[in-house]
Amino acid sequence: MERTFIMIKPDGVQRHLTGEIIHRFESKGFTLVGLKMMQVSRELAEKHYGVHKQRPFFNSLIEFITSAPVIAMVWEGESVVTAARNIIGATNPVTAAPGSIRGDLGVSIGRNLIHGSDAIETAQTEVALWFQEEELISWKPVRHSWLYE
Ligand code: RTP
Ligand code: MG
Repeated sequence: MERTFIMIKPDGVQRHLTGEIIHRFESKGFTLVGLKMMQVSRELAEKHYGVHKQRPFFNSLIEFITSAPVIAMVWEGESVVTAARNIIGATNPVTAAPGSIRGDLGVSIGRNLIHGSDAIETAQTEVALWFQEEELISWKPVRHSWLYE
């Protein structure tokens, strides 16, 4: 079963939207297999966003992600990487579709509430970067046969 890395960013935690955001993944049908609250170190933030190192927003992005706690999670389900990106919505909340987390709850690109891995390979890298194997719980929810044919 596919897994993806999801992080509620400092603005989501500060705005008390943690429950609202987790609820959307749970009610869609995905399974939580790992969760922890963390104050992110500069080193971890720079590794996670390493692909953006040369971009003009890199420093402010690192400042923001390390400014207050985040909620790091791993979610499991069929095609969860792509589906989670759709639940999250476009990078800029101004253009993110209504119904998506960023479309419904966000207003600016530098405060877009949540991160989700952008591809299956990225998800594998990010899950390994943020979680130890023993922090992830494999379990079979009883609703499984009501979600999947
Ligand atoms: P994320 O990685 O955080 O899930 O967001 P994303 O895939 O939708 O967007 P990405 O291109 O990976 O950008 C990472 C984060 O950098 C900030 N950003 N600011 N000012 C700008 O033009 C700009 N572009 C990107 C956003 O906070 C974005 O989530
Ligand atoms: Mg990204």
